[in-house]
Order: sequence, then C-alpha cells, then structure tokens
Amino acid sequence: MKIIRYPNTTDRSLKPWSSADELLLEQVLGQNISEKKIITYNDRFGYLNCQLHQSDVLSVISYKSQEKAHKINRENNGLMLDDSHFVNPLSSIDEKFDIVLMKIPKSVNLFELYLAQIVTCIKDDTVVYCSFMTRHFTKRLLVISNKYFEVVEQSLAKKKARLLILKKKKELKVNELINKLSLGDGQILNQYYGVFSAKEIDQATQFFINNLHIEENTKEVLDLAAGNGVIAYTIQKQLPNCKIHLIDDFYLAVESAKLNLKGENIYFYHNDILKEIEENSIDLVVCNPPFHFEYETNIEVSLRLFKEVSYCLKQGGKFQMVANRHINYGPHLERVFNKVVKVMHNEKFEIYKCIK
Ligand SMILES: C[S@@+](CC[C@H](N)C(=O)[O-])C[C@H]1O[C@@H](n2cnc3c(N)ncnc32)[C@H](O)[C@@H]1O
Repeated sequence: MKIIRYPNTTDRSLKPWSSADELLLEQVLGQNISEKKIITYNDRFGYLNCQLHQSDVLSVISYKSQEKAHKINRENNGLMLDDSHFVNPLSSIDEKFDIVLMKIPKSVNLFELYLAQIVTCIKDDTVVYCSFMTRHFTKRLLVISNKYFEVVEQSLAKKKARLLILKKKKELKVNELINKLSLGDGQILNQYYGVFSAKEIDQATQFFINNLHIEENTKEVLDLAAGNGVIAYTIQKQLPNCKIHLIDDFYLAVESAKLNLKGENIYFYHNDILKEIEENSIDLVVCNPPFHFEYETNIEVSLRLFKEVSYCLKQGGKFQMVANRHINYGPHLERVFNKVVKVMHNEKFEIYKCIK
C-alpha cells in the first residue's frame, strides 16, 4: 500500500507515518477485527484508515487537509470512501466502538478534547490505544488519562514509540472544553481546546494587532489562517460594516471563530486553500501564517497560501502579515507581490505589507 502526504512537501525527512502509527496498527492486526468497530484519532494522512480498510473504521477528522489526505490515499489504493466514514471532534457519536486508536497530538488540550469524546462512544470493555514517540512524552498525558480512565498502562518502547493503554472509562460529567483568552478592556475570546495559543493571545499576533493599519475605505477583508479569529475580531471592532472572511484548516479553530465573531457580513470557511474566495475580490488579507504542524516545522504551506492570496486580492490590494524574524519571508514575498515593505519589527517579530 502506498501512502503519501497531502499537502506534499519537498522536505524528504517528513514522512506520512511514523513508528507510533505502526505501533497502533500492530495492536489490532493481532486481533480478529472483522467484527469489531474501530475509531481512529489523529490519523494524519490516512495510514491507519487505509491499512484497516477491511474493518469498520470511523476516522475523527480535525483538519480539512487531513480529510483530503485520507481521500487521496484511499483513492490511490483503489479503496472506496464516502463521507460517512468521517466525523469531527465535536460530533456526538451514537455508535459504540470496540477499539480506539489515537496518535497523541502535540497539544495536551487537544488530547483531552479527544478523550472527552471517546468516553461518550465506547463500551465498558473497550481498550483505547494512544501512541506517541517517547521523546514527546509529558507527565500531563498521564494526568489527563487518569481523569478519564481507571486504568492507565504504558507499553514498552518499540522503535522509539510507546503506548498509553487506557481501560475502564470513568463516569464523569465533562464541561465544554473551551479556553477563555483576555483581549483587555474586558473583552474575552473563546476557543476550543487544541486551538493555537491556548493561554493568551500569541505574542506575534498581539504585536500585529497593536500595529495594524486599516484604511477607512476597506470593504472586504480575509483573515487567513484565522485560528480563534482574533485578528478579524479586532478589524470588526474598527470597521463593523466591513465584509470579513475567515479561513482555517483546523475544524476547532473555525468553530472557535464562530463563537467570537457574529454578523451577517462574516463568512467562515473550513479549508486549507482559498478556493471559495473570488478572484480579485479582497482589499486586505491579514495573516499570522502557520509554520508549526504538530512537531514539524515547515513554511511550504504558507508559501503556497501567499500565491493564492495574490489571486484573491484586488489590483492594489494589500497583504499584511506578521512573522518570527528568523524565518525571513521577505524574498519569498517579493516573488509573489509587486511591492513588499517591512513596516515594523521588534526583537522577535516583523510585520510585512505587500501590495498586489
Ligand atoms: C500561527 S496560527 C494563527 C492563528 C490566529 N490567526 C492567531 O493569530 O491567533 C496559524 C493557523 O493556521 C492554521 N492553518 C494551518 N494550515 C493552514 C492552511 N493550509 N490553511 C488555512 N489555515 C491553516 C492553523 O490551524 C492555525 O490556526
């Protein structure tokens, strides 16, 4: 079976699965699983989904790019797939599963959000296998696991990966797993567990917001990689009649932004590309671009998005973004935009203004 990454990458060190995924697969291949219902979490490119195609597998999908990767890999391997094999991490799930397989996400908050969903859709004797690379272990994983399960065991390490094996779910009432972030002046933003910058507004974002210059005649704005929508929220406060589009690849980010921004002129998109945005339609695009994907660092996704930004902007439209200074986006931006100016910096971050 051939599994590829979507989006693809030129970095050959980045693989579509790891020994942590293999360890999960081993747990079920030793069992008679034809009659068993399996649910998977954080199967990023569909490795487990494809390998277990003969079983009844439901995949919890958190990213649009993850959904696309699953579809591409199923299709490439001649496997059928319809959308009923996918649910999102906030779905209420009616079925009860025999086996749960989870590659533990980097965000411990997100791990908890997944466990909170898991305990609603398993049987009393279901075993939950959670894998991780040993170098990524933190004691908080045990604390959270113990909150939801009576029995928390650890496996031996294999190829630098290990398992947490969780049994006997606890009966507990889980409140909505939402963090509250202060924007000052009594303004609070809500975001589901797992969304970028859980404790406070990200420093780069704060620097960007403090120095954001929005022209009065701005009619249509795109907040690209919007997270909880904090940048769009700030713009809406200044220009309440402006049409604002928000896009994010992460389902929980889009759902968080919906909690924070209301209005008939606000549009949300769960996508990893800008295909829903009309060509030459936008006056201003704002962005704190992604470059961390779980434990990977990669700017290729952002570089592709910049090209799409240029397509969506009106002639003369502006793209303003903030970045860590060490990344040096300048030469990349100059390849896409007519004019690129570094308008501001401090010791850690810089703000670019690009004109189409
Ligand atoms: C650095 S965070 C910025 C979030 C928010 N704008 C802020 O400042 O708090 C980057 C965001 O990009 C999102 N993201 C990653 N890849 C993406 C893609 N291809 N398209 C849209 N959003 C993406 C991530 O889910 C994350 O929410």
